[in-house]
Amino acid sequence: MKEKHIIDLENLSRSQLEKVISLSEEIMKNPEEYQHACDGKILATLFYEPSTRTQMSFQTAMIRLGGQTIGFDNPMNSSVSKGENLKDTITIVSGYADIIAMRHPAEGSAKAASMFSTVPVINGGDGGHFHPTQTLTDVITLSNEKGRLTDLTIGLCGDLLNGRTVHSLIKTMSHFENNKFVLISTKALTIPQYIKDSLKKAGCEYKEVRSLKEAIPELDVLYMTRIQQERFATQKEYEEQKGIFVLDTAKMALAKKDMVVLHPLPRVDEIDVKVDDDPRACYFKQAVYGMYGRMALIYLLLNDKDFAFDYYKPQLTNSRCRNRNCITTTENYLKSHCHYGNDGHLICNYCDHIIE
Ligand code: CP
Repeated sequence: MKEKHIIDLENLSRSQLEKVISLSEEIMKNPEEYQHACDGKILATLFYEPSTRTQMSFQTAMIRLGGQTIGFDNPMNSSVSKGENLKDTITIVSGYADIIAMRHPAEGSAKAASMFSTVPVINGGDGGHFHPTQTLTDVITLSNEKGRLTDLTIGLCGDLLNGRTVHSLIKTMSHFENNKFVLISTKALTIPQYIKDSLKKAGCEYKEVRSLKEAIPELDVLYMTRIQQERFATQKEYEEQKGIFVLDTAKMALAKKDMVVLHPLPRVDEIDVKVDDDPRACYFKQAVYGMYGRMALIYLLLNDKDFAFDYYKPQLTNSRCRNRNCITTTENYLKSHCHYGNDGHLICNYCDHIIE
């Protein structure tokens, strides 16, 4: 079954991903050649959660391609505030727009939206699950700033449990040869099991460590993340985790001369502002690369009929997903869909958590 929705970057084959990266680099060099590429087309940005970079770079990308945008950045200003469900909102908007970029707090929401949309849906972040266009941003940044996507020791630091950008990046970079992963977090915020399983399946070396200072000297890439207050059940749990990992100039002095520092942003206090002046700090450039990546993605989804992806054929199950953040817990009309994981577990087709 071929579809045009981007739920995770893993939906793209390696050659499709390389096509997006090379097109983004071509657009960067020759933007004027693409300024009418999407004339007459409309992008809807449906942001049920706050965003600066993802929302605005999608909008800018479409405008720079000659298209126009509609949408909301606060669902309370739409009929969601009157109780309209995701199915109805997506059904309506896909009748207005040619392509939809969506962010939503529930895991699996982008998958659910794609089931009711007649136009491509791009996941702009679904809870703590995936954030594929951030990963696209990250790989374009690495391609340009490191000159390669292979043979890298990649440190990921902070909230590895809820960090959707981390999950998507690990899965994507695990497909490129000889990449190793150093997972730096507290015990409470360690990476979910299904991401470790995907690393094992890809045959990647990885280790879990608790000290950024000890890990930093071996890294080619350091991917810092924010401790996300909005993902904790209580303020106390958040307070226990915040401020544990801080990248400062003293730690940068221990790092390789050509290490690059990435961060999906927004930053709170996990990177000292003094690090911004270090040439290895690439996180502001990263946000600009992301706009070109989104231009390439929109261009290919709207103009290249062969740019489509294989998905699991979902099976119905009587068991409901027990992940309290899964979209099926709030959108009750959704049928329970699953697929079998490699280890024989039944996996929720929306949020990828093990059902049984
Ligand atoms: N990186 C990222 O997703 O930023 P926003 O939350 O501002 O979109």
